[in-house]
Amino acid sequence: MSQQIHFEIQDGVAVVGINNPPVNALTTGVPQGVAEAVQRAQADSSVRAIVVMGTGRTFAAGADIHEFVRYVAGQGPMPEFHRWLNLIEDSTKPVVMAIHGQAFGAGLELAMAGHYRVIAADAQVGQPEVKIGLIPGAAGTVRLPRLVGALNAAEMCAFGEPLSASDALAAGIVDRVIEGDLLAGAVAFALQQTSVRRTRELPVVTAPFAELRKKVRKHLDAPLAALEAIEKTSALSFDEGCKAEAEIFVRLMHGDQCKSLIHAFFAERAVAKVPGIEKDTPVYPIRDAAVIGAGTMGGGIAMALANAGLHVRLKDTDQAAVDRGLATIRKNYERSKSLTQAQREDRLSRITGQTDDAGFAQADILIEAVFESLELKKQVFAGMDRVAKPECLLATNTSTLDIDQIASATKRPHMVLGTHFFSPASVMRLLEIVRGRETSQPAIATAMALAKAMKKVGVVVGNGFGFVGNRLFISYMNEAELLVEEGASPEQVDRVLTEFGMAMGPFGVADLSGLDVFMAIRSERAHAGERETVGLPMLHELGRYGQKTSAGWFKYGEDRKPIPDPGIVAQIQQAAGRAQRVISDEEIRDRCLFALVNEGARILDEGIATRASDIDVVYLTGYGFPAHRGGPMFYADTVGLTHVLARVREFGWEPAGLLEKLAANSDGSFTPHAAST
Ligand code: NAI
Repeated sequence: MSQQIHFEIQDGVAVVGINNPPVNALTTGVPQGVAEAVQRAQADSSVRAIVVMGTGRTFAAGADIHEFVRYVAGQGPMPEFHRWLNLIEDSTKPVVMAIHGQAFGAGLELAMAGHYRVIAADAQVGQPEVKIGLIPGAAGTVRLPRLVGALNAAEMCAFGEPLSASDALAAGIVDRVIEGDLLAGAVAFALQQTSVRRTRELPVVTAPFAELRKKVRKHLDAPLAALEAIEKTSALSFDEGCKAEAEIFVRLMHGDQCKSLIHAFFAERAVAKVPGIEKDTPVYPIRDAAVIGAGTMGGGIAMALANAGLHVRLKDTDQAAVDRGLATIRKNYERSKSLTQAQREDRLSRITGQTDDAGFAQADILIEAVFESLELKKQVFAGMDRVAKPECLLATNTSTLDIDQIASATKRPHMVLGTHFFSPASVMRLLEIVRGRETSQPAIATAMALAKAMKKVGVVVGNGFGFVGNRLFISYMNEAELLVEEGASPEQVDRVLTEFGMAMGPFGVADLSGLDVFMAIRSERAHAGERETVGLPMLHELGRYGQKTSAGWFKYGEDRKPIPDPGIVAQIQQAAGRAQRVISDEEIRDRCLFALVNEGARILDEGIATRASDIDVVYLTGYGFPAHRGGPMFYADTVGLTHVLARVREFGWEPAGLLEKLAANSDGSFTPHAAST
C-alpha cells in the first residue's frame, strides 16, 4: 500500500488513514489507495467495519487542481474518481467516513461514497468547486441530492459556501457530530452499524429551482451549470447522472471562466514566492505596532493590525484628530456584523490614541500614514528613526512617493519599506509591499508574514511611481477620460466596464476616491507619452470632487447613486476640442483594458512587478477586476497577444517592448501556467 494510505485494525474495525500532506488533496493514487484499503478490509474476516479518516490537520480539502490543469493543457489524463468511489461504496461491510478539518470538493465526494459519516464538532463540509469555475466532478451532483434533496444540493454547489458540522447534520450529510476523540467515536459508531446504506441507492427529493435560479449570478457559467447538472442528475439513474455530470464538468473545464479562476487561484499562491526570500530568511516577531496619522488610512490600518491580534498605538498631531480617528474606528467596529460584542471590545481595547511617541521604542513596526507630502514624510521618518529600536520596521503607506527618498531620512534604510494599503484598509485584501533599493530580505519577509497575519494578500512590488496598482490605474483612467473627450459619456464607459465584470466603472471609482486625490496624483506624476486630458482639472477647478461634494463626473443625491450630467460632459468635450464621434462599446472595452495590459507589460520589463500573475493579483484583490477574467494580463493571454498588439497599434499607442516580443511568438503569453510557477 502506498505511503499515502495508512491501514490498521482496531477492535475489529479497519482504520484507513489518508496521508497526503499538507491538506490530503485527492491526488491520483489516493482515492485508489482508499478503495484498495477498503477491499483489503473486506477480505479480512477479523474486520467488521471500516473507518476512513484523514491524518494531519484535515480530512481532505479537495482534488488536486494541478491535475485538472495538466489535463486541460493536454499534458495528463483526467483524474479518475468514479471507479474508486464506487468500489468503496460497494463494500458489504459498513464504511464510516470520519471528518475533521474540512471535507471539501472531492473530499466531500469521497465522504459521500461511504455508508455513514461522522464529523468533529469544528469541522466543515462543502462543494466549493464553483469558486474555480467548476461543478463537482466526482459524482457530487449525483450523490449530494440523494442525501440532502435536490434544492439544498443545488444551493451548496451553486454558491460553494461551507457548512458547519451542525448544519451538515441538520441537512442530512452526516449522521453524527462527535464531541471529543473523533477516531474513538467513529470506531464506536462503526461497530454499531449492522448494515450498509449506499448513497447512490437513495431516492432524490426534488423541488422547483425557480427561486434559487433568481439568486444565481447570471454572468458566471459555473453556478448555472450546477443547477443544470442537479436538475439533470436528479431525474436520472445514478450511472446516467454521473455521465451527465461529467459532460458538464468537462465543458466548464475547457471554458475561459474556469481557466481564469484557476489562474487567479494559483496566482494568489504564487505571490508568496518572492525572489531572494527563502524559507530560512529571518522574520522579526511583530506584536506591537504604532501608526502615525489617524486619518482615513491610519484608522483603517490600525483596525487591520488589531484584527490580527496586535497592540496598536495610534498617533496624530493633536488630541482632536486622535479622538476623531478613534471615534471612526469605534463606529466602524460597531457596524461590523461579523463580530461578537466581546470581539469588538477586544479589538477596540488593542488600539490606544496619543499625540507623542510614548511606547514607540517597544514597537516592532511603525507605519506612517500622514499626508502625501515627501517633505512631511521625511520629517516623520527622521523622528521614527530616532525613537525606534534597531530591529523595528519603518513602513510608509504612501501611494506614490519614492521609498528610497523617504528611507534616506533614516539611518536604517534596510528596515524601510512601503506597506501600501487600500481603502478601506481594514477590509481590502491587497497589500502592496514596496521594496526600496536597500530594503533587506528579512524586512520584506516580515512584511509578508504581517500581511498573512492580517489575512491580506501581500504582493512585493518595486519602487516606482504608483508602484503596480496605481501606475496601471492611471493609464486606464486616462484612457477613460480620453474616450469621454472624444464623444463617449461617463455612464457609457462605466456601463461597458461593469458589464465586463469590473466591480465599478472608472468614473464611479474616481468620484468615490475623490477627484482632489486624483488631481494631486496627476500633478506629482511625470508620465511619458500620455496624452493630457482636460476633464479632471476642469472638474477640480469647479470644486466637483466627487461623492464628497455631491458632484464629480456624475451628480449625486442622498442615495449616492450616480446621476448622469450631460451638461458638464458637453463642456469638457468642448474644452478638449477633439473631433466628436460615436464610440462603440468594443472600443471602450479594448482601450481601457489594453491600456492596463500595455502598462502592465512595461512594469514587467522594468522589474516593478515580478510576474505577470502578480499584476493580476493586484487587480483582482485591490481594483475589483473580475476573477472569472483572471486579471488584466491573463485576460490579454485569453484574447491573444497578437490581437492585443494589433489593437494597441490601431489606437496609435507605443506598444510595450515585452508585448511586442511575446506577440511575435505565436503561443507567447504573459502568464505561462501560474500553476507551474
Ligand atoms: P488623511 O488626510 O485622512 O489623514 C492624514 C492624517 O495624518 C491626518 O489625521 C493628519 O492630522 C495626520 N498627520 C499629518 N501630519 C502628521 C504628523 N506629523 N504626525 C502625525 N500625524 C500627522 O489622509 P489619508 O487618506 O489617510 O492618507 C494618508 C496616506 O495614505 C497618504 O500618504 C496617502 O497617499 C496614502 N493612501 C491613501 C489612500 C486613500 O484612499 N485615502 C489609499 C492608499 C494610500
